[in-house]
Amino acid sequence: MMIGDGMDLQLKGKKVLVTAASKGLGMACAQLYAEEGAQVWIASRNKQQLEQAKQTIIHQTGNAQVEAVMCDLTKEEEIKQLFAETGSIDILINNIGGPPAGAFDEFADQDWQQAFERLLMSVIRTVRAAAPSMKDRQFGRIVTITSSSMKQSLDGLLLSNTFRPAIVGLSKSLSQELAGDGILINSVGPGTMETDRIRDLYQPAQIQQLGENIPIGRIGQPDEFAKAVVFLGSGANTYITGQTLVVDGGSMKAL
Ligand SMILES: NC(=O)c1ccc[n+]([C@@H]2O[C@H](COP(=O)([O-])OP(=O)(O)OC[C@H]3O[C@@H](n4cnc5c(N)ncnc54)[C@H](OP(=O)(O)O)[C@@H]3O)[C@@H](O)[C@H]2O)c1
Repeated sequence: MMIGDGMDLQLKGKKVLVTAASKGLGMACAQLYAEEGAQVWIASRNKQQLEQAKQTIIHQTGNAQVEAVMCDLTKEEEIKQLFAETGSIDILINNIGGPPAGAFDEFADQDWQQAFERLLMSVIRTVRAAAPSMKDRQFGRIVTITSSSMKQSLDGLLLSNTFRPAIVGLSKSLSQELAGDGILINSVGPGTMETDRIRDLYQPAQIQQLGENIPIGRIGQPDEFAKAVVFLGSGANTYITGQTLVVDGGSMKAL
């Protein structure tokens, strides 16, 4: 019995913005979108790294439709400027560098406010900028890269444990408000994926140990994470919205 047209992600000709995409998980998502024939925009702060990422993606995918814009996602004006450059987009992948590690006594008001701007306001501002034209076209996909801490707290990562779940609440509300306009919004949380973020947080021996404690027996690779993001943020996803998905090799025991 035929139940569909196969698994066409329907990304050819779609315009995708992946923020914080000059390396790590964001870059892996941008690369997979480019492989699937989308027109891809990447944004992050360091110009040289961003340009290098653009060239690598073009070289490795053969898709020359890759544009790079410098943007610090913690700055409202820079987000406005970013969207002035990209124009209307079909698919928004929200990502930003993670907050510092630490316990409650180590953070002052300023740290909490910075984490709020970094993790929550950046998403609010990008959605505010992207949604109107998605509504006009009655199509949009939004995926926010968070952390497994959106569902289960991580030791010593108090800022992440506080603000990642807030994104889940925001996305659930947005999913209700935007579904009638053809806009689907979901959150995807990495467990432990091999990127600079993990290399900054842990020593090599600790990373080895982390991998051994994961049911699949190793930490994940960025492209394994990207596949989940790209499916949820594609035309092939027609009925999943307001959900949270953790890509963690089976680490989390919660249902
Ligand atoms: N890797 C994991 O296992 C893991 C686990 C849990 C959660 N996460 C979260 O997933 C996200 C991505 O992690 P990752 O491992 O891919 O990190 P990563 O390898 O360190 O890459 C971070 C990217 O974000 C960009 N960036 C950082 N701050 C930015 C800002 N203010 N404005 C614009 N771009 C910014 C960086 O470029 P510039 O510095 O040039 O701006 C870089 O391209 C982070 O929020 C991280 O906390 C990752």
